[in-house]
Amino acid sequence: MLDPQGHVASWNQGAQSIKGYAAREIIGQHFSVFYTPEDVASGKPRTELTLAASQGRIEDEGWRVRRDGSRFWANVTITAIRAPDGALRGFAKVTRDMTDRLRLVELQHASALSSHVQSAREEERTRIARELHDDLGQQLVALKMDVALLDQAATEDGKTARHTIAQTVALQVQIDSIIASARRIAGGLRPPMLDDLGLGAALEWLAAEFRNRYGLAVTVQNAVDQLALSPTAATAIFRMVQEALTNVTRHAEATSVCVQIRTVQDEFRLHIEDNGKGTTLDRNRGKDSFGLLGMQERVRQLHGQITFDSAPSDGFRIDIRLPIDTVKANQAC
Ligand SMILES: Nc1ncnc2c1ncn2[C@@H]1O[C@H](COP(=O)(O)OP(=O)(O)OP(=O)(O)O)[C@@H](O)[C@H]1O
Ligand SMILES: [Mg+2]
Repeated sequence: MLDPQGHVASWNQGAQSIKGYAAREIIGQHFSVFYTPEDVASGKPRTELTLAASQGRIEDEGWRVRRDGSRFWANVTITAIRAPDGALRGFAKVTRDMTDRLRLVELQHASALSSHVQSAREEERTRIARELHDDLGQQLVALKMDVALLDQAATEDGKTARHTIAQTVALQVQIDSIIASARRIAGGLRPPMLDDLGLGAALEWLAAEFRNRYGLAVTVQNAVDQLALSPTAATAIFRMVQEALTNVTRHAEATSVCVQIRTVQDEFRLHIEDNGKGTTLDRNRGKDSFGLLGMQERVRQLHGQITFDSAPSDGFRIDIRLPIDTVKANQAC
């Protein structure tokens, strides 16, 4: 309760636990001590009392200050209390700490933003991969054909050619290697078979890449080829396997990895297991480590569960369970 001028007239346990003052410390003080210096400077506490007195009740949301100076997001209602003759007796003030709710809203916002950024990034990769493949790739193939014609012309009329056959052969080899690079870069950005042939083919391609590039024995056990996955789920699963395999090459010193996908009742399951040196999971993860966090976020967006299991000298296991309904392609589309 506040008196008509805004001094604290009574105090309770709830107020103490939110604001940190004991009754003897705060009773008699002006209630503007709960407001931020900016709000006090703009006259907000007095305006609120004036409005509550004229309108009967006001409600406000904003930052308030605890005894220790920390701020919390508050929902405040101030109700004028009047005597039967209409004289103002004071105000009843109820403050709710909304910080948790604000944090939840912020978290929901951050999560929506992250999912938006993820899909925007994926679209961008797809676009660049397509440009690399369709535009640059086609131009290189055309160039290679021109060089081959040049080669033919040189063979037919050796005298007029200003280049040697060896030079055109070298050029063709070089163009072939640029075509291969463009394909590799495009594939790394987004494997074309993910859209055309589905997750199973894309995982086989990924496994072959890791085998060829790092000599890692990657086995893919795929028991879900009949299941049509939504593009979002297929992309998420592919990216998680890609991150897990990258982690194996970077951190595990493993010789083999097994990637297993299957369905058990209403769940889609992905299990990735390596035979590497493992790690201590409760160790604080580096602040620059986003791989496992990203997997958790992707799984959360698909309403699933993810667990990591590892110990020194005992490999690393990732177990992901996703509800079938969230990964299945929408049959109507
Ligand atoms: N297969 C693995 N074997 C052993 N340790 C691993 C394995 N996978 C992850 N780790 C450990 O977990 C940590 C966190 O992995 P995470 O993928 O989140 O981050 P990162 O790979 O270090 O960085 P990035 O953000 O580039 O992915 C790694 O730094 C490593 O110590
Ligand atoms: Mg990583």
